[in-house]
Amino acid sequence: MIGDEDEIVPQGIDVTTPHIARIYDYWLGGKDNYAADRAAAERVMAATPTIKPGVTANRAFLSRVVRFMAGEGVTQFLDIGTGIPTADNTHLVAQAVNPASRVVYVDNDPIVLNHARALLAGVTAPTAFIDADIRDTDRILEEAAGLLDFDRPVGLLLIAILHCVPDDDDPRGIVRTLMDALAPGSFLAVTHPGIDQLPEQMSAAEKTLTKAMGYRVTFRTRDGVGGFFAGLDLLPPGVVPVQDWRPDPDTPPSAITGMWGAAGRKP
Ligand SMILES: C[S@@+](CC[C@H](N)C(=O)[O-])C[C@H]1O[C@@H](n2cnc3c(N)ncnc32)[C@H](O)[C@@H]1O
Repeated sequence: MIGDEDEIVPQGIDVTTPHIARIYDYWLGGKDNYAADRAAAERVMAATPTIKPGVTANRAFLSRVVRFMAGEGVTQFLDIGTGIPTADNTHLVAQAVNPASRVVYVDNDPIVLNHARALLAGVTAPTAFIDADIRDTDRILEEAAGLLDFDRPVGLLLIAILHCVPDDDDPRGIVRTLMDALAPGSFLAVTHPGIDQLPEQMSAAEKTLTKAMGYRVTFRTRDGVGGFFAGLDLLPPGVVPVQDWRPDPDTPPSAITGMWGAAGRKP
């Protein structure tokens, strides 16, 4: 099938409605996006110039936090809201520290699923992909148990996904259910667009995304993000702008991003 601007569109994929994974891919400089995604991405960028440094800093946080967890001895990861693969995917970062690391990816977007299948086809290390909605915690946990041993610590990664879950769908309850299933010593990492960082710009981004995608995105406050860590030991430096979470010493200070990031450990 041919889509906008003569692009090849995988069959069965609606590319006329902007999708968060493909908008995000555009911001990261990827090629897996279509005209509707790019138009929405440009509208958000016009209102919120920090968005591009924000998504880059978000990916850098993902690498740092996975390296940190792997350094603490975690060899199993559950990465929900995987996104379209870029350079430093979770299994590459984790397996660079420990080649035996197991990674289960979860996403509900068919384009992400296509890419993940292609990506994982050549991977010999234990890695799996589940096509599921984060709200379907029972299925995620059941299927992930095929690869992960829930009696040992797991690193749960909820990187730039929880804003896709409105308050009515009880995102805190979802996180609690997932963490309850994990062994003591497990970790949770969250990044989240902050409505209280650069309030004017982030509020414009929230509205533009919600309108473009036809479902509500919810940017949250620092306290709101901290709430996801209830019952866990929030690790220093706490909930901070993503670029300030344990930055690599040789990395120059990043621009302001609008994203909160944090990690916690299950006692
Ligand atoms: C902004 S991207 C973040 C990608 C990646 N975690 C990162 O930070 O680079 C959000 C991802 O979450 C996925 N997603 C959104 N809502 C979801 C849901 N309800 N269940 C599962 N995945 C979802 C999207 O398809 C997309 O791939």
